[in-house]
Amino acid sequence: MSVLIRGVRCYGEGDQVDVLVEDGQIAQIGTGLSVSDDCEVIDAPGQVLLPGFVDLHTHLREPGREYAEDIETGSAAAALGGYTAVFAMANTDPVADSPVVTDHVWARGQQIGLVDVHPVGAVTVGLGGTQLTEMGMMAAGTAGVRMFSDDGVCVDHPLVMRRALEYATGLGVLIAQHAEEPRLTVGSVAHEGPNAARLGLAGWPRVAEESIVARDVLLARDAGARLHICHASTAGTVELLKWAKAQGISVTAEVTPHHLMLDDSRLVDYDGMNRVNPPLREASDTVALRRALADGVIDCVATDHAPHAEHQKTCEFASARPGMLGLQTALSVVVATMVQTGLLTWRDVARVMSERPAQIVGLPDQGRPLEVGEPANLTIIDPDTTWVVTGAQLASRSDNTPYEDMTLPATVTATLLRGRITARDGKSPA
Ligand code: DOR
Ligand code: ZN
Repeated sequence: MSVLIRGVRCYGEGDQVDVLVEDGQIAQIGTGLSVSDDCEVIDAPGQVLLPGFVDLHTHLREPGREYAEDIETGSAAAALGGYTAVFAMANTDPVADSPVVTDHVWARGQQIGLVDVHPVGAVTVGLGGTQLTEMGMMAAGTAGVRMFSDDGVCVDHPLVMRRALEYATGLGVLIAQHAEEPRLTVGSVAHEGPNAARLGLAGWPRVAEESIVARDVLLARDAGARLHICHASTAGTVELLKWAKAQGISVTAEVTPHHLMLDDSRLVDYDGMNRVNPPLREASDTVALRRALADGVIDCVATDHAPHAEHQKTCEFASARPGMLGLQTALSVVVATMVQTGLLTWRDVARVMSERPAQIVGLPDQGRPLEVGEPANLTIIDPDTTWVVTGAQLASRSDNTPYEDMTLPATVTATLLRGRITARDGKSPA
């Protein structure tokens, strides 16, 4: 099947062009391209064409908590959000700490066919923090696991983290750290600061994140290893990343859309929707994170899409599970916080949502240039529309969006994975 995309602006730049997609690749870019009989046409005059988005951090809950999300509903949410590849975190039940689980996740994603679901393997058995997993076996399986993380919990033991970095370096895979010194966050439910103090919520201090980031960039330096920092959330983490990169340490980092947009002033109504790890910080952190993403100190945006069932969120704040939906709102939040503020251009959006994440994990067919002969992993965006977020209407099985009733800019009008349409006008074909 071929697809003709008419009237788009590549990277939101230059004149409108037509893009012909054939056999999973970009076959022609030009004006007035003719349509063959079996060609599907997408009319998108003035819309923005970008390479498909790559999410390094998502929770799809399969196996084990399919009542909150599964690979099918999560894949639909991803495609509708403009994603062509996502990395599914290992904190499932059972944990993705062996090829049995990682190969299942990959195969199920391929069977659904809406987005490439790359499993993240656990660093330690059962996320227990003590015994390293057989990363090599997971890397050698059909899933070809290339990123390992205990996300949800921190690899807090320094010797275990050191050995993990050494082992990963030998295998050529990436360790992604959820930076949280657990002895500093016992009982914590919100960012430690004036708001949490006033509301009587136990605080999660910035130093719990920053002390692990500082330790791990030094461990990575000594091991000659690559390290990726999940969901950077504080201005201090930005300073540490800046320092580590200036030393030539191989560290990369992501920021979530919610840490770019929201801060702890939202906690006043004790709504469990606002509970997340790391917690929503202060406005000064949000400003620093935006600037760091614009400057490249933070490499990319990753959603930390974390579906939770209603009974796990609609309860007293301290009992609410941490986590927020993110896949279908990420682009709009990035546009609102980074594009409309003049911090990023559309070409930069391609960098932080597609190119850099693909490079960080080494996906050869994602985050590619919009050129003839390249794989047709594409996202089409209408930059001039707005939409009102309604959790119940999102494709996820759960509704826990922090953006309920908010009007956000820009909509993904179509997504193509290897030339097949996986989302169009808010609907996925599954
Ligand atoms: O808010 C979060 N939710 N942070 C994490 O690190 C884990 C995630 C989850 O699995 O729900
Ligand atoms: Zn995490």
